[in-house]
Amino acid sequence: MKKYLVIGNPIEHSFSPLIHNHWIKKYHLIDSIYEKKKIEKKDLKNIIEDIREDKIVGVNVTVPFKKLIIPFLDKLDFAAKETQSVNTLFKTNNKIVGYNTDSRGFLDSIQQPHLWGSNSIAPNFLKGKHVFVIGAGGVTSSIISALKSEGAKIVLSNRTREKANQLKKLFPDIEVIDWGKRPPNCNIVINTTSVGLTKDEEIKIDFSDYDNDSHKNTLFYDLIYNPKETMFLKKARLRGNKTMNGKMMFLNQAKYAFNIWTKILPKINDEEIKLLD
Ligand code: ATR
Repeated sequence: MKKYLVIGNPIEHSFSPLIHNHWIKKYHLIDSIYEKKKIEKKDLKNIIEDIREDKIVGVNVTVPFKKLIIPFLDKLDFAAKETQSVNTLFKTNNKIVGYNTDSRGFLDSIQQPHLWGSNSIAPNFLKGKHVFVIGAGGVTSSIISALKSEGAKIVLSNRTREKANQLKKLFPDIEVIDWGKRPPNCNIVINTTSVGLTKDEEIKIDFSDYDNDSHKNTLFYDLIYNPKETMFLKKARLRGNKTMNGKMMFLNQAKYAFNIWTKILPKINDEEIKLLD
């Protein structure tokens, strides 16, 4: 049996087993199974040993272990190194490698032509775009890394300024602004905080002036996908802005993890999108 795992704490609400077992079945990997496991920090070492001994083939890492896992690994891919965040583990050439597929997953999600009302996406369409990133939690470095690689101009704000300042050390080109403030003109606004996970919770940053034609193409993107529409997205939709939740990023990061383990790159169709509804 080939065993795959997602590790985290809490882990009950993870949709990773759902999507990965769906692909395992779809691609007839009959001797494989993907499970979730709630762990403590002290268990990280054992997980790595299990991969070394081929008791586990592949692992997804989620909150709060994406950074904490790094000291246990032999090697990091470029994105994991740059973001200091690992969400996928796999052994190659006897080395346990940490990968970050969140960054690529995010880029895929934002590069969907229909989102921008066209048939194709210009290769450099994010270049020079003004992106306002809200929050400085575990996933934020993956978002910044992806946007930076495409040449976007990034402004960052977090309630605890020190955590935003830490991210500026990793990405010196970003601009950090005070909590509650916002840049005047944004093409994309991304919520990476956990505000909105609980219904009716709301980020106190005012975008009420974005209710006119000149902002109808501004994309409000919330990494949260459960609930499907946070207050952040609801208000944006009612103002007439474009909106998107975190479901496509989730599916795309999963797709790349599955590819690392099995060499199969799944297609994301309606079937997969509906699976998470
Ligand atoms: P994770 O690693 O799971 O993302 P985290 O590191 O605690 O968790 O990050 C959560 C993010 O949501 C942080 O940016 C946090 O802001 P702080 O750094 O100030 O804690 C943000 N966040 C959570 N609750 C918030 C709230 N009520 N108002 C504003 N930001 C909040």
